[in-house]
Amino acid sequence: MTISPLFAPLTLRGLTIKNRIFLPPMCQYQAGEDGIPTDWHLVHYGARAAGGFGLIMVEATGVSPEARISPNCVGLWNDEQAKAWKPIVKFAHSLRAAIGVQLIHAGRKASSFPGLPGYASGTVPLEEGGWVTKAPSPEPFPGYVPPQELTVSDIAAVVADFQAAARRAVAAGFDTVEIHGAHGYLLHQFLSPVSNHRTDDYGGSFDNRARIVIEIIDAIREVIPADMPLLLRLSATDWLENVPGVESWGIPETIQLATLAQEHGVDMIDVSSGGLVPAPISTGPGYQVPLANAVREAAGIPVVAVGELGDPLTAQQVLVDGLADAIDVGRAALFEPQWPLRAARELGLPSEDWPVAPSYIRGVWG
Ligand SMILES: Cc1cc2nc3c(=O)[nH]c(=O)nc-3n(C[C@H](O)[C@H](O)[C@H](O)COP(=O)(O)O)c2cc1C
Repeated sequence: MTISPLFAPLTLRGLTIKNRIFLPPMCQYQAGEDGIPTDWHLVHYGARAAGGFGLIMVEATGVSPEARISPNCVGLWNDEQAKAWKPIVKFAHSLRAAIGVQLIHAGRKASSFPGLPGYASGTVPLEEGGWVTKAPSPEPFPGYVPPQELTVSDIAAVVADFQAAARRAVAAGFDTVEIHGAHGYLLHQFLSPVSNHRTDDYGGSFDNRARIVIEIIDAIREVIPADMPLLLRLSATDWLENVPGVESWGIPETIQLATLAQEHGVDMIDVSSGGLVPAPISTGPGYQVPLANAVREAAGIPVVAVGELGDPLTAQQVLVDGLADAIDVGRAALFEPQWPLRAARELGLPSEDWPVAPSYIRGVWG
């Protein structure tokens, strides 16, 4: 019997991931102001490890307190946080799931209200626990408070914070690190000419706009083991190509950066899109797969495709067609922690190969 390519192992450097179904990073907004992961995180990630995900990518995790998306986001800016991640990592490993952490600086979209029911949108005011945000240029994301422009020494501090957080990720036992370069957060703000109006070494030309990303890649590679894979999430387009007179970030630039990133030690690009400024996007099953495939083909780097891949047959077809090397299942996995197990059954995997946790094996037998 042909084994579904979703369940073929994937090796990146020294890490072999048991299948190609990844849980993408998804903010839970369940930490306190100390940024320490809670019981929620153990249960949430633990359930998806038990559900058969090959790689679990922990949500956007702040490299400093002011780097967090919201006051309820987790962090890796101190050793107490690193210690608290350890049991979560250990639990995922006990179920043969690989687990990584996405490191973020949210830039002008930091200090925002948590994305939970009952909260406003936009910037949390200082008197309600928010903080002053910083970005490449002082223009705000629409509806947010304007950020301060980062100085060159602020930029050096951001790079150092990413490096220190990556070192702690290794100490906590994570198998991989993903740099968040997408969705209109700090690194994407540097990359796109829409949000970067600097005239120094970090603005203007492609090389200048990409400089901080490359510096962060180099800084992280210095402190993580040579056999640990490094992922980079990018928005492949600002979805502004058709807006007359606007110079934006698109597929050619993404390919150029992916090529450069690979030369500097990135092993896989997690190809998403949008988030820099509000823009119309026509979504639908697999709507970002062509973006992932374009990067894979032109840059020659493994990619994970993401976006409405919650139907097992659709997800499988992406790999059958050779369009990507792995797939992310996001919102569908919030609804269904055991998505990989259901996919294994529906796609005809022999039951002895289903990714079932030992204590749940009776559920497979009926
Ligand atoms: C609740 C929620 C939180 C998210 N948080 C993050 C995040 O922390 N980092 C990130 O890169 N993307 C984040 N995303 C985007 C997802 O990783 C994913 O790219 C998106 O949901 C599309 O995939 P899907 O159609 O399978 O849900 C989030 C999405 C959701 C629904």
